[in-house]
Amino acid sequence: MKVGVIGTGYVGLIQAVGLASFNHEVIGVDIDTSKIEKLKRGISPLHEEGLEEVLKKHVNKNLIFSADYNLLKNTDVIFLCVGTPQDKDGKANLSFLFDAAENLKRVLDKKEEYIIVTKSTVPVGTNRKLKEIFKGFNVKVVSNPEFLREGKALYDFYNPDRIVLGFENEKDEKLKDILVNSIYKPFKEKNVPFVITNLETAELIKYASNAFLATKISFINEIAKLCDKVNANVKKVAEGMGLDPRIGKAFLNAGIGWGGSCFPKDVKALIKQFEENNIEPILIKATDIVNEKQLEYFLEKIENYYKDLKERTFAVLGLAFKPNTDDLRESRGIKLIEKLIEKKVKVKGFDYVEKARENARSYFSLKENLIYGYNVVILDDLYETVKKVDGIIITVEDDKFNSENWQKIASLVKEKVIFDGRNILNKENIESLGFKYFGVGI
Ligand SMILES: NC(=O)c1ccc[n+]([C@@H]2O[C@H](COP(=O)([O-])OP(=O)(O)OC[C@H]3O[C@@H](n4cnc5c(N)ncnc54)[C@H](O)[C@@H]3O)[C@@H](O)[C@H]2O)c1
Repeated sequence: MKVGVIGTGYVGLIQAVGLASFNHEVIGVDIDTSKIEKLKRGISPLHEEGLEEVLKKHVNKNLIFSADYNLLKNTDVIFLCVGTPQDKDGKANLSFLFDAAENLKRVLDKKEEYIIVTKSTVPVGTNRKLKEIFKGFNVKVVSNPEFLREGKALYDFYNPDRIVLGFENEKDEKLKDILVNSIYKPFKEKNVPFVITNLETAELIKYASNAFLATKISFINEIAKLCDKVNANVKKVAEGMGLDPRIGKAFLNAGIGWGGSCFPKDVKALIKQFEENNIEPILIKATDIVNEKQLEYFLEKIENYYKDLKERTFAVLGLAFKPNTDDLRESRGIKLIEKLIEKKVKVKGFDYVEKARENARSYFSLKENLIYGYNVVILDDLYETVKKVDGIIITVEDDKFNSENWQKIASLVKEKVIFDGRNILNKENIESLGFKYFGVGI
């Protein structure tokens, strides 16, 4: 089919490349012309394993990139994948989405039929508003929220747990046929479950899923604080809980809390949706508060150990919000660096992902006139990063840390102290090398 994708960020680019690999004819449109120029040359502007290979295979064949909305005129199905960041007051900012819709309106042909599918995470009622925008056009609106995980995005595209489709009319068999039997045919063939429902339910499935996962993390983080006090081990608590299939072990890793491009803004936007409907969001608000406090709790551990942080130097290992991505949005590592610098600390930062290091360099140098640029250096080598530091702080849940040469690291640091904000290291092994080890709840 002829498919359009508006917004070629983490979600849109994966969607465009993935659908091209299903042999659809895909046009990816973005207002960021520098991104489009890279994409036209088969260069991925973002780091995602395997993405550039599939991109190169299809680009300029059945996958075209352009900043020109006019190319969307001859498509059948158009996916909206623009950002919906957090507004000042915590709501989802829908200006990119509505701008995209207005741009689209200018080029679509009133005599043609189109299906407009929202993949962006949008509050309940947004797709009905989109329908209003396209009044007078022959347009069907669909909500098809995205569940991919950055760092595993291409894998998740090909192996979804479910496909959620919200229709204006749940019984619309023609629409179902196009989406299930044509657009997403390979998923149907793999027996991926399709959840077909109304627009509002589909919109809410996305927010409820993210808020639930965030709640699981906040729950175990709260338990971790108690573990610290009573000599219990939160890793074992989580293991013992997680073996119960009603609970499950995923998202029960205690640490410095959740960040990233989705959980923080989606939890806040869901809180707003409750408030707008005059319901007190007791549990979800608590989830958010626990998360806010978790970083402070970790910082207190560092301060309690050193007493005075002034003029200390730390290696912060982990800049992106999670492993295998370059995305710094709401990264706990970056937030911690900023908090440390406010306390007159010097930071040497490292991330395994080169683009994450590049992004961090530009993020901090943009702030050069503030205090940041002068007190943070981002290094390309982990061993250089730990040289002569007063302590190592791990901020990203990356198992690669366990394969490092910790004997060598022990010989490079000034003081053998580790604050493991993700409980990722083997405490016994690390302590056997003479390190003082501080995790969260262990
Ligand atoms: N990143 C994730 O892991 C993830 C997962 C699931 C859902 N989502 C949701 O998907 C949406 C997109 O997220 P993302 O991380 O891909 O965002 P992103 O910021 O990486 O990408 C958004 C893209 O849209 C482009 N854009 C903005 N306005 C435009 C317009 N008017 N016309 C064309 N292009 C425009 C931007 O230039 C950018 O390239 C959000 O609603 C997000 O919550 C993201």
